[in-house]
Amino acid sequence: MTIERRLKETAERVNIALDALLPKAEGPEARLTSAIRYSALDGGKRLRPFFTLEAGALFDADEAALLRAAVAIECVHTYSLIHDDLPCMDDDDLRRGRPTLHREFDEVTALLAGDALLTFAFEILADPATHRDPQMRCLLVSGLARAAGPLGMVAGQAADMAGADIGSDLIAVTRMNRLKTGCLINFAVDAGATIGVASEAERTALSRYAHDVGLAFQMVDDLLDAEGVVRDTGKAVQKDRARGKVNFVTVMGVEATRERVGMLASQAKRHLSLFGPRATTLTDAVDFIVQRRY
Ligand code: IPE
Ligand code: IPE
Ligand code: MG
Ligand code: MG
Ligand code: MG
Repeated sequence: MTIERRLKETAERVNIALDALLPKAEGPEARLTSAIRYSALDGGKRLRPFFTLEAGALFDADEAALLRAAVAIECVHTYSLIHDDLPCMDDDDLRRGRPTLHREFDEVTALLAGDALLTFAFEILADPATHRDPQMRCLLVSGLARAAGPLGMVAGQAADMAGADIGSDLIAVTRMNRLKTGCLINFAVDAGATIGVASEAERTALSRYAHDVGLAFQMVDDLLDAEGVVRDTGKAVQKDRARGKVNFVTVMGVEATRERVGMLASQAKRHLSLFGPRATTLTDAVDFIVQRRY
């Protein structure tokens, strides 16, 4: 099966699970819940859930547990996009090929829908339906909190908003991207390994893989901002430089960024050698990330 096909199948599974778990768009909270569903249910590559499911599959981990963790991570990711698009942040009008949430609804609803998705993620993880072992649930809750919180994704978003004030060198940009994008991707992979009770060596290998994949992923996002087309990306392009953002492309240029993506991709694949052919899908995911146009 091609990686595109496999991603699509995963996206369908994630959409069904999300649809079942999210509150219905009815009753007195219908405006809020419709907004949540508008952002969470339509579109998105579902790459983070894919990583959780595929990392867990290496250890034959319980699929229902993996799927719930994957959905929780996607809720946090979706919240981060809703807030990232707000006028006070990147001020974007288009996301996943449709108007951003604050454009379709209003700013207050978008802010609250983001808040709701963030907290809902932890409700999912803490529910005994995710895993019968409370210690496992606790590990997932604290892992996601660390990845998304004040020393993780939010710190990265703060650095991103500070623009050149954080420094406009490769070290500052790498650190910012590790935080804003890398942390959650690392956790997505690690959640699969955690639920699958991987060995220390296996977890380390996967964590190194996720590190390189996370960086390469954000580099490609920066390349797509510079060179992509809206028809493919489903979001505005050529906005980072215009907004005074510091990213890999503004610091290193297109060619050097592309070269680094290639280097990180080879390195990421090499970290998986421990797993042999079992990790083919995770290896193929690297190629997808490098070649993606959306
Ligand atoms: C976009 O993430 C924001 C970044 C962290 C670069 P994705 O490219 O995974 O967005 P969707 O979920 O597929 O829309
Ligand atoms: C967003 O980075 C990262 C997070 C939401 C944590 P970007 O601002 O580059 O993402 P896009 O390009 O708007 O998707
Ligand atoms: Mg941003
Ligand atoms: Mg943005
Ligand atoms: Mg971007």
